[in-house]
Amino acid sequence: YTVNIDASDISKGPYAHYMLKEVDEQPSVMRRISKNYIREDGSINVDPEMLKEINKADRLYIVAAGTSYHAGLVGKNIFETLADVPVDVELGSEFGYHMPKLSQHPFFIFLSQSGETADSRQVLVKINEMNLPSLTMTNVANSTLSRESNYTMELLAGPEIAVASTKSYTSQIAVEAVLAKALGELKGVQAAKDLDLKEQLAIAANGIQTIVDEKDYIKQLSADYLDGQDHAFYIGRGIDYALSLEAALKLKEISYIHAEGFAAGELKHGTIALIEKGTPVFAYINDGVGASHTRGNIQEVEARGAHVLVIANEKYAKPGDQIIIPEIDEMISPIVSVVPAQLFSYYASLARGNDVDKPRNLAKSVTVE
Ligand code: G6P
Repeated sequence: YTVNIDASDISKGPYAHYMLKEVDEQPSVMRRISKNYIREDGSINVDPEMLKEINKADRLYIVAAGTSYHAGLVGKNIFETLADVPVDVELGSEFGYHMPKLSQHPFFIFLSQSGETADSRQVLVKINEMNLPSLTMTNVANSTLSRESNYTMELLAGPEIAVASTKSYTSQIAVEAVLAKALGELKGVQAAKDLDLKEQLAIAANGIQTIVDEKDYIKQLSADYLDGQDHAFYIGRGIDYALSLEAALKLKEISYIHAEGFAAGELKHGTIALIEKGTPVFAYINDGVGASHTRGNIQEVEARGAHVLVIANEKYAKPGDQIIIPEIDEMISPIVSVVPAQLFSYYASLARGNDVDKPRNLAKSVTVE
């Protein structure tokens, strides 16, 4: 399969910014991933040789940087649940130089939109010298990481031009789910057999669509919560903690508002000292296990004056929650629930007069360590 790039992929068309175009493309990217990797009968279409090789592993090491690292954190839970294999998620810039003791039979997964990130590549060079097997999940088929690893899975997101990564994050989570389901089915894991991924990706596509169709509302929320603010927090538990890290990064990158993603339960162990009257706190409630405790954490910060916005899955939503995410398998829920955060960042960046697509100090692909 090759992604055919036509002129409309690299032109902004009616959009003022590539970022907004790329946010809006996410439903069609989900459909493309589904169509390409999942057959009509629901079986997964990936290289069987690669699956056999991964099946020998006693531990998966996901190596990445930036937003791709955050997609890896979401992937950890997906692989551990569907494929019943332990997963470490590592920053290339740390792991390459401070390599932990590896398991007996490691398998490496490199996540990289560009396939060129030097911090990730230096790890690949090292593990190739050690003759360890690897796969690159990338948006660029002939990229360096793709060429130098044993296997490649394409993200099929189409060219991503805005520096802040959006559709790459959601496509990485979807492709991780594809691989985890295939591996889990090969191993006979019940959770993998039970997951109807075709249906879930269709739900994800529709869920994203309902959010991007509410731009006026989200723009208004962005103004209400972020105008004049220099600090913000995203909090959540479990899958929502991983998601909060990405949501906060998005806000920092393009709006230059200082933001932190925090484990909701950890906030009280120090960082809650920063909460004052009006501090915006965005709370995610998609994780069923953590839902009631996160509600408690919301009360704690509200009692200190925080201005709280709740983004909740409809299963756990309460009256007054500002954004409701349609029901979706919790494992892959960040595919949908990241989208309001992408849009908050976009509108906050616009409101500050920043260059949305080319934020200061950042590059799309970083080829120095
Ligand atoms: C750069 C970009 C980030 C990106 C990171 C990893 O720092 O500014 O948006 O997440 O590199 O890029 P990759 O291409 O490896 O996913």
